Amino acid sequence: MKAYRAALLRFDDQGTPIHDEDGLLVIGPGADGTPLIRAAGSYAALCGNFPGVAVEHLPGRLLAPGFLDLHVHFPQLDVIGSPAEGLLPWLEQYTFPHESRFSEELHAGEMAEVFLDELLRHGVTTALCFASSHVPSVDALMAAARRRRLRLIAGKVLQDRHSPDGVRDDTEQSLVDTEALIGRWHGQGRLGYAITPRFAPSCSEAQLRGAGELAARHAGVWVQSHVAENRDEILWARELFPAARSYLAIYDDFGLLRERAVYAHCIHFDDEDRALMRDRGAAAAVCPTSNLFLGSGFFDYEGADRIGMPYGLASDVGGGTSFSPFHTMLAAYYVGREGQTKPGLSLPPAQLWWQHTAGAARALGLEGVVGNLRPGCEADFLVLDPSATPLLARRTAHARTLDELLFAMIVLGDDRVVERVCVSGAFLQSSPPAGEPTR
Ligand code: GUN
Ligand code: ZN
Repeated sequence: MKAYRAALLRFDDQGTPIHDEDGLLVIGPGADGTPLIRAAGSYAALCGNFPGVAVEHLPGRLLAPGFLDLHVHFPQLDVIGSPAEGLLPWLEQYTFPHESRFSEELHAGEMAEVFLDELLRHGVTTALCFASSHVPSVDALMAAARRRRLRLIAGKVLQDRHSPDGVRDDTEQSLVDTEALIGRWHGQGRLGYAITPRFAPSCSEAQLRGAGELAARHAGVWVQSHVAENRDEILWARELFPAARSYLAIYDDFGLLRERAVYAHCIHFDDEDRALMRDRGAAAAVCPTSNLFLGSGFFDYEGADRIGMPYGLASDVGGGTSFSPFHTMLAAYYVGREGQTKPGLSLPPAQLWWQHTAGAARALGLEGVVGNLRPGCEADFLVLDPSATPLLARRTAHARTLDELLFAMIVLGDDRVVERVCVSGAFLQSSPPAGEPTR
């Protein structure tokens, strides 16, 4: 067992933040040996309960749960910052050409290491990832995540039509490959698999039907896709599936809305769509930097909360512009604030933080597993330095409340705030051990 004395940020079941200004976080093995959080709370209340346990004192630091990224594209690392007229030209001009290179095992393997380095450097310890449409891209990412003992969920993209040579897959083979990948990776250590139809316009009816059948056969795996991101995309989807009530309803018609299904964007929704998400137990991945960069629109927080549609935050790299949860939370604040096209809200900073940690874990069905500092959660946490830059130091020195402290970090912070990252009970050094087999 090991304990850390510092300020703590954690959340109760309602998502209310708890700030222990002088706190103690105790890490120790669970029943099966997995490093877990054994206790989190005030130092004064807890210190007598763990005699003999070494305590590392981290004055001036804030211990917080590792962030979760609910939607990120592993093969789009080098697509970040590629401007286009909108989503569909962006896919054609930049995204598909880049993703086509991930059929190469060597390239995928190298990029997996860079991708995981970036996530971790920014304090993201769990991610729901799109690989490319090529099996080696999934194998490379999963193998790299397993070596680092990360809790990571990923899937092979399904796209058997309206996609260029190099990324288009074959209907039958794509489903066979998906089932084989589920068998190979789902539940291996901390890894999970996500059935990943790219979006309805890139998938034939047969492919969507097959994906839905897999989702029914493998209830524990996740499902991920995109929906209602961009007006041209929506018109296209409606033309291709004229019988569906809405774009979202296409996925429902194929059995792809269920618990553990996470849909990116969910911008241009009506209340019936929001209620359908809620009733099926599906969640939205809100991707504000992407939506601002590609000019897609503004997620309607008021609508989501009024109907009770679950959601959490995501980078959507490479449509998104940053791996940094601080940048994503700030963009989410701007998006919430926008009040010309939908009701404008001023989202409290602790609420933004919850959406990227415990709230995101709830959206994934992993509440109590990751995303919080509470007994039983896996030991993924961050040591944050609220005075990491001169301006942050000035600003946080006179923060009078938790809200002021968190807002200063959201507005002024980035990877420099993330001083140390603990994954599964061990602090990261630099690169993971090399030389392990990729399968
Ligand atoms: N819709 C279909 N594919 C993609 C993608 O790669 N990124 C985004 N943002 N939307 C998509
Ligand atoms: Zn995306």
